[in-house]
Parts: sequence; C-alpha cells; structure tokens
Amino acid sequence: MPDLEALKKEAALRAAALVQSGMRVGLGTGSTAKYAIEEIGRRVRAGELTGVVGVATSEASDKLAREVGIDVRPLDPQPLDIAIDGADEIDPALNLIKGLGGALLREKLTEVQARRFIVIADHTKLVTRLGEKAPLPIEIARFGFLSTIERLRKLKVAGEMGLSGRLRQPGAQPYLTDNGNYIFDAQLPEGTDPVALERQLKGMLGVIETGFFLGMAERAFVAAEDGVVEMVS
Ligand code: 5RP
Repeated sequence: MPDLEALKKEAALRAAALVQSGMRVGLGTGSTAKYAIEEIGRRVRAGELTGVVGVATSEASDKLAREVGIDVRPLDPQPLDIAIDGADEIDPALNLIKGLGGALLREKLTEVQARRFIVIADHTKLVTRLGEKAPLPIEIARFGFLSTIERLRKLKVAGEMGLSGRLRQPGAQPYLTDNGNYIFDAQLPEGTDPVALERQLKGMLGVIETGFFLGMAERAFVAAEDGVVEMVS
C-alpha cells in the first residue's frame, strides 16, 4: 500500500523550496497544501526566509499559516510572486479541477493573481480528461439554490440534456463554504469541453464560481513511488 501522505509531502517540499525571502505567497488549501504551509513556516521560523507574506485561500489555511509563523495578509490587488496549491484532478495540459475541499472561490481569486501557480499532488490526481474521477464543484448562492440547481440540471453538456450531480451535503445540513455559499458537485459526461462549460456556467444566474482552473498552472510537482515528476504547461 503506497504511503500517499509521504508522496504528498515530497511534492509539497519541492514547491516550498521555490519560496524566497520577500515573496508574497498564495497559500493553498487541503491535505497537500498543508505540508507546503508547514514547510514555509518552518523556514520562516528558522530565519531562512524573511519578509515573506502569505495570502491564505481558506479560513483553515489562514489559521495554520499563522500558527506556523507566517505573516498572513488579506488578498489585495498587488500580484503574488507564487501560489502553491493541491488539486483534485490534473490533465496532461495542467488544467485542473479543484474544490473538493470547498475553497475554490478563494483559491481562484488568489491563484489568478500569482505570477507562478505551482500545483502539488500525488500521482492519483493525474487524469486524461477532467471529470474522469472527480466531480466538478460549482459554488452557488444559498438564496434560491434549488432554482439554480434546476437551471444546472437543464444545462446541455456534451450533447446530453442536463448536468447531473448533487448538492454537497455531508450531514443534516448542506456544506457551507467560507463565503457562506453552497456547492453543487457535477458529474461531467465524457466529451465535455471544459472551456465551453466554464463559459456557460459563469454566465448562469446563481453560479458564483466553478472548480475549473484552466490554463492557470505553470507547473506541477507530482509524486509517485519512484520520485517526483515535474510537469510544465
Ligand atoms: C480545496 C482544493 C484542494 O486543493 C484539493 O481538494 C486537493 O486537496 P488534497 O491535497 O487534500 O487532496 O481544491 O478546495
């Protein structure tokens, strides 16, 4: 049984090594990004990095980053030097699905402002087409969410009538994002054109953001049993 945690950490350390003193750094969310935040914090505490400012993509990452000694600031219009984050799916062109951890909106807002967006993952996240293994998270407004879901279910995708999927609801109540919204996890049929679907979704009333991160990543460090592979877009 491969130790996925060790692989995730290995990938995260490779990306964290790219951070230099004085950089403004986007801090991702999730179990892989956690290792990168911890490593950046370790380097700050050791005095190896000075003047580093972090911008966190979730309340959880904000809390962790402060705990490990990173100077966390809100997102402002200044560009970030680098952003480091995990992904749920990575296609061969480094297009991504993100948001199974629920932080897609803040992640996209942050990572789009980074000069370099570096993805870190274990090899199980590699796919030949987006939607192969993971659903596409779509953040939707709480107000009128049933109407928005109805509109989503009627959307024509890859020749099929209707986007199937479900409201994310791990318990008695729907999952609530850090922004107070809900998430609809959509199943993507084979033949889905991510660029066209992204355009359709972004034009739909009630949809706030999608988990498609298309053409954003500069490189990915993907860890497998025999080492870390560097993929470049
Ligand atoms: C959170 C995300 C995460 O980056 C993604 O879910 C990967 O998480 P993990 O590293 O725990 O597999 O997009 O919104």
